[in-house]
Amino acid sequence: MTDSIRFLMCPPDHYDVDYVINPWMEGNIHKSSRDRAVEQWQKLHHLLKDHSLVDLVKPESGWPDMVFTANAGLVLGKDVVLSRFLHKERQGEEPHFKDWFESQGYTVHELPKDLPFEGAGDALLDREGRWLWAGYGFRSELDSHPYLAKWLDIEVVSLRLIDERFYHLDTCFCPLTGGYLLYYPPAFDAYSNRLIEMRVLPEKRIAIEEADAVNFACNAVNINQTVVMNKASDALKECLADAGFRVLETPLTEFLKAGGAAKCLTLRVTEPVRTEIHANVSVESRIVRMEGHLLDSGLISRALDLIVENGGSFQVLNFQLGEQRQSTSNAQVKVSAPSHDLMEEIMTQLIDLGAVALPQEVCDTNLEAVTQDGVAPDDFYVTTIYPTEVRIHCEWVKVQNQRMDGAIAVTHTPEGTVARCKILRDLKAGEHVVVGVEGIRTVRKAESREPRTNNQEFSFMGAGVSSERRVELIVEQIAWELRQIRDQGGKVVVTAGPVVIHTGGGQHLARLIREGYVQALLGGNAIAVHDIEQSMMGTSLGVDMQRGVPVRGGHRHHLKVINTIRRYGSIAEAVEQGILTKGVMYECVRNNVPFSLAGSIRDDGPLPDTQMDLIQAQTEYAKLLEGTDMILMLSSMLHSIGVGNMTPAGVKMVCVDINPAVVTKLSDRGSIESVGVVTDVGLFLSLLVQQLDKLTSPYRQLV
Ligand code: ARG
Repeated sequence: MTDSIRFLMCPPDHYDVDYVINPWMEGNIHKSSRDRAVEQWQKLHHLLKDHSLVDLVKPESGWPDMVFTANAGLVLGKDVVLSRFLHKERQGEEPHFKDWFESQGYTVHELPKDLPFEGAGDALLDREGRWLWAGYGFRSELDSHPYLAKWLDIEVVSLRLIDERFYHLDTCFCPLTGGYLLYYPPAFDAYSNRLIEMRVLPEKRIAIEEADAVNFACNAVNINQTVVMNKASDALKECLADAGFRVLETPLTEFLKAGGAAKCLTLRVTEPVRTEIHANVSVESRIVRMEGHLLDSGLISRALDLIVENGGSFQVLNFQLGEQRQSTSNAQVKVSAPSHDLMEEIMTQLIDLGAVALPQEVCDTNLEAVTQDGVAPDDFYVTTIYPTEVRIHCEWVKVQNQRMDGAIAVTHTPEGTVARCKILRDLKAGEHVVVGVEGIRTVRKAESREPRTNNQEFSFMGAGVSSERRVELIVEQIAWELRQIRDQGGKVVVTAGPVVIHTGGGQHLARLIREGYVQALLGGNAIAVHDIEQSMMGTSLGVDMQRGVPVRGGHRHHLKVINTIRRYGSIAEAVEQGILTKGVMYECVRNNVPFSLAGSIRDDGPLPDTQMDLIQAQTEYAKLLEGTDMILMLSSMLHSIGVGNMTPAGVKMVCVDINPAVVTKLSDRGSIESVGVVTDVGLFLSLLVQQLDKLTSPYRQLV
């Protein structure tokens, strides 16, 4: 018997499944047998007594889960951090455990109220005592970890649980003697798995299969080379034997019905302190402020969600709710993250939502010099489409040339400080770039009450009678806006893929251009080739556009066309010479609508107009996009995404594609003004032209 090892257990006098607070309890209310539970508990008790000392705490009626003493608290040396249960069903156990700890002379530390932490169920010492593994995600809050580090003077490694079946760390994770670790990797997020792999050598990691995990194989009591558990597969036993461990199985099926097994039923109260080890915690916290229609727009819930989704946690410090429909709300939120990297990740996303990191009085955003042309410092802030401001000399300076995926370069000119979005390749050595997340904010229109990314999306082809009507409504709206923009001398840019031609939309797009609705056209080689093929030969990729059938030898048509245009040197020249007499490209030339065709690896030809230098093509695109009011993205994922990246928020984007995934992808990147339409693009264009006709003669239907 090992004298120095002591456990605390609680006899199952009042044990039962009385409520559901974890998935195992579901369907098991009052389904466990008292007799069998007592018998199983006693077996475990005896087994442990053979290897160690076992203390008992008096069971209290009305607290059926009190048998799970792992959740009493977390002991290290003479200190104990008392549990604060998440569920009120177990909160009544707290004073009883507290009494026991005090009666034994422990120093009891109590967490602030509303900061859940469920003791040794969620915190496991490395068996060498080097650090404390602490779980969060279901029962315990990340913000409790810094307290553990402080009170127990130990390093805390935070692990995030993501499978609700393994809601406590000890259900899927069991440090063993000699630095071994028995665990179920899928119960943790990727980041936590990486942390585990960084700390435990591969030969010391015993990853178990789901079949063992659901038998609570990780919920094991380890005493030196002995491991006591409910049940283990032969494979697992073998694995453990190879590592020098002997498995003792003892059935605990009645306790599994409450979501617990061997380890849960015990609390190790003699955990040796290693005096050379001291507090250390990588959990970081900071406070952010948000303002706006936080509730109506769903902003606050999106902010809180993203914190949790990224492995962080939060505390709302205060929330001033605007009372009138038009009044804005104000919130201060404490954000915690398990590491600096995750904190930066979360902060970057919060900044997109308009949050500002406090203290606001930070006078200067962090700048770092570029040391190599075209390469930013590692920590550079990646821009978004949202209007952004940075703190310089205690003032907010607006970032110019806002676009996505750039860096913010700050230069001091005689006229003042200039902050500008630049793409990486344009950065010059010596230039200063914003790094980190301090002193950066995106400016949101306070008056906007709509959700930012809850873009409207309309499905036309998807079943349902109403959707047709909905597409009509949205087309009506777009037509009206197009007219507005044209009449006010605004700018509409179209990006188009060859599908526009295949689906018969070419004639409609040509007409939009002719009638002054389009100020620039962006696309690739294909849209131009197929448009010209259709104009000159009546086919699009060899398919007869009137009859919809492939023409014999038609697959060569587009090469003939390319060859012809190449002979004339350019599309414009072909128009000039009367070779090209109709179609989209023809209208562009005739109506002086500039276009840019960006090449790609698969281009045939290409046409002489196609820009095969992609850096040059990006520059041309960006130039044509300047000052745009609306972008119509017609069935071209490639070019549309390219365009989206160059466009600041506030420019309305209409994305049309038959593939809902493309529409979602595009409209997700856009601002609130974006609209996605899932439909056949040819159909869309024909409806659009019809709607524009109606606008031209509002009384036509009456006649
Ligand atoms: N029914 C208990 C609960 O859900 C089970 C506790 C199991 N304990 C543990 N350390 N995993 O809280």
